[in-house]
Amino acid sequence: MSDAQKAIEYAHQNRERFSRELTEFIRIESVSTDDEYKPQVLKAAEWAADHLRKIGIENVALMPTGGHPVVYGDWLKRPGAPTVLIYGHYDVQPVDPIELWETSPFEATVKGDYLFGRGTSDMKGQVMATLNAVESIMKTGDFPVNLKFMLEGEEEIGSMNMGNFLPKHKDLFKADFCLNPDAGAISADEPTITFGLRGLAYFEVHVYGPTRDLHSGLFGGTVHNPAQALAELIAGMHDSNGTITLPGFYDSVRPVTDQEREATAKLPTTPESYLKQTEVPALWGEKEYTPALRTGARPTLEVNGLLSGWTGPGSKTVLPAKAMAKISCRLVPDQDPIEVHKQLVRYMEEHAPKTVTWEVKNLHDSPWAITDVNTNGVRAMAAAMETIWGKPPLYRREGGSIGVVAMLQNICGVESGLVGGGLPDDNVHSPNERMHLPTWHKNMDAFIHFFFNMK
Ligand code: BES
Ligand code: MN
Repeated sequence: MSDAQKAIEYAHQNRERFSRELTEFIRIESVSTDDEYKPQVLKAAEWAADHLRKIGIENVALMPTGGHPVVYGDWLKRPGAPTVLIYGHYDVQPVDPIELWETSPFEATVKGDYLFGRGTSDMKGQVMATLNAVESIMKTGDFPVNLKFMLEGEEEIGSMNMGNFLPKHKDLFKADFCLNPDAGAISADEPTITFGLRGLAYFEVHVYGPTRDLHSGLFGGTVHNPAQALAELIAGMHDSNGTITLPGFYDSVRPVTDQEREATAKLPTTPESYLKQTEVPALWGEKEYTPALRTGARPTLEVNGLLSGWTGPGSKTVLPAKAMAKISCRLVPDQDPIEVHKQLVRYMEEHAPKTVTWEVKNLHDSPWAITDVNTNGVRAMAAAMETIWGKPPLYRREGGSIGVVAMLQNICGVESGLVGGGLPDDNVHSPNERMHLPTWHKNMDAFIHFFFNMK
């Protein structure tokens, strides 16, 4: 039996324990966006650090970042062999709206082929798939390559401290390749390597009217309602084709090449697949681009939340004093988040009516990334996927963001292989997040082959 087969056998025999350990990890409510959860975020870091120690990783430490710590660890006993950096994040998104969850979000629950719970798919499950693969090799023989770990606690809030942290530890995170299982796959039957991620610039737009909420009968019709003013401003941010109207927004957007159009047209991400996954009555967006190009290669401006006036039960006749929108832009090469911030401010300067005052706050930015797929790491992963799925992976650009990918390229010179067992219908960031267990198991096996293919 080959070393890889021995490790895979170990992984199969330990599936139940792996599920129990993942359930423990899910139970820790590591919501990074909410300061109230700070102790739980730290607890998740400690849990991950303990787990690394248990599976034989050395020099495990929680490294301070100014925010939530980075969990580091390494195993460097193969001089001359390549070093693989394993990236993951142990933070999760908030669970709201909690009333729509059918199971308790932090009590991982198996239903059929799925494990439900916040962080199952994005990405505690993917972290554990990787650590389980590492453990399976560690416990059945000699590890073929050197390992380093970087487990982050602020990915879901834009990796806001990484830009300061990484340059200080540039050498520590040097590696030949980074395995990043945070990117997911097109479907359970389509092993996927992602080579592009969008960036993100996140804002709050505040519109202020009267100094206090007013009686809508006494003042309605005479005072501009800030909720209405904000709605008018938001409505003007796209034209009728879905194109964004911020001044200069597309100036640095790289045009989609014919070659990319052709390659993307061959992917199984069709208009029908988007309709099926989202259950909307019809799709929306720039007509000149297919949905796959719109999400992978085109930028967006999205309203993530709106707040104003009376939203409690029953009615209250009020003219609200203020309104607020959370707005974020997904960015593509070569857009710069700082420029986009300026463009949003310019738009407000040009369009906000004199009847209200306003403010734009920039919460965080994340860079876009295009990764090199002609690396030994990607070749090793593609071969591993082909061994497990019986077909070569598909290559795509993805609409989500993972800030650290571009930072690792620019600061440490490390290219990432973006993979993972997350599927489009996993409800990531939504109620009833789930992970497809058969895909989870396949990924563990593929990761085992990957490490042997890397040596
Ligand atoms: N895993 C996702 C990003 C992702 C999703 C990559 C789908 C590829 C496919 C990640 O955890 C995430 O959600 N990131 C945030 C980052 C943001 C807050 C800067 C995102 O994309 O919203
Ligand atoms: Mn996420």
